Amino acid sequence: MQNITKITDELIYLGGNDRRIALFESAFPVPRGVSYNSYLLLDEKTVLFDTVDSAVSDLFFENLEHALAGRSLDLLVIHHMEPDHSATVFRLIEKYPNVQIVTSQKTSAMLQNYFPLSCKNVQVVKEGDTMSVGKRSVSFISAPMVHWPEVMMSFIPEEGILFSADAFGTFGALSGALFADEVNFERDYLDDARRYYFNIVGKYGIQVQNVLKKAAGLRIELICPLHGPVWRKDLGWLLGKYDIWSKYEPEEKGAVVFYASVYGHTQNAAEIVASELAKRGVPVKVYDVSHTHVSNLLAEAFRYSHLVFCSTTYNNGIFISMENFISDLKAHFFQNRKYALVENGSWSPQAGALMEKEFSEMKNIKRVGEKVTVLSSVKEETRAALTALAEALAADFGA
Ligand code: FEO
Repeated sequence: MQNITKITDELIYLGGNDRRIALFESAFPVPRGVSYNSYLLLDEKTVLFDTVDSAVSDLFFENLEHALAGRSLDLLVIHHMEPDHSATVFRLIEKYPNVQIVTSQKTSAMLQNYFPLSCKNVQVVKEGDTMSVGKRSVSFISAPMVHWPEVMMSFIPEEGILFSADAFGTFGALSGALFADEVNFERDYLDDARRYYFNIVGKYGIQVQNVLKKAAGLRIELICPLHGPVWRKDLGWLLGKYDIWSKYEPEEKGAVVFYASVYGHTQNAAEIVASELAKRGVPVKVYDVSHTHVSNLLAEAFRYSHLVFCSTTYNNGIFISMENFISDLKAHFFQNRKYALVENGSWSPQAGALMEKEFSEMKNIKRVGEKVTVLSSVKEETRAALTALAEALAADFGA
């Protein structure tokens, strides 16, 4: 049965939630599910903004038919060809064969790659183009690499409605409420929104900054992303988060101790550093990198200002889960942070030097304090070195 929600009298939400999915993109755990958003504008022309993932396609088609109420579908605007939004395009064209696709040049090429389509119903648009659809117009904004190269956004200037593609989206299904101001977003969605941002588009901060500059010139009243709630209030707060995130600046002043430990001795060292930081008034969190998904670790590393990496040595290298985490940080252009190192090894500690090499290849990552080496287990002198490390971090932190 249809389950549509009116955003305005003539703009309708048609998306759906997938709570059965375990891993978004086969990579990111989504225990609270994810929504796939699609929007229908009923003007003199009917305009569909994106389709949905195949997981919610049956509901989507029921919603679309109900919302059209017997009208034909005139235009399909495709902002992004990733299949979580375009998997149902071919089925849509079979059902509405006269629909005209409006999209970027790159998407028009990708369409042929994904579907056995002829190109005759595709209208290619580019940055700055505007199309009248009746009382309103739709203008197009290029947004390459947010999150694929073909991505564009659309804007309805008469009502200040921005269709923002993946930007401003979040993991987490919608729980009845469609609008961000109807939920406690900071409590219920912000962690997932941050994790979504850094894992999905975090690598492309420069491109996100470019889009934010374009957005600054628009009178935006409503943001309709492809995942998560629709925004009609507090847009400045949301845009501010994206500004900080895409500049790779710490969102909060605070410390995180990440450790990889096989028999608990590296954990012991990590927790001593954390306790000594807390005693000095530094807000601190601790994560076992072998027991927390790397997508969460990545989001937490980007969130805070001071990070401590503690790893045992394994096969003459960094422990597997820590190596994977640091490699993921590097792949996402991790930068602008202070960090400290603790290594462990029973006969040839190597993890510290290897971690340091990795961080030396990242931008503006500065080490604080002396690297601490644990030989198998923490002794009194090692404890003193860990305390000195916490003191150096606290001094740098300004606590
Ligand atoms: Fe939600 Fe990049 O797709």
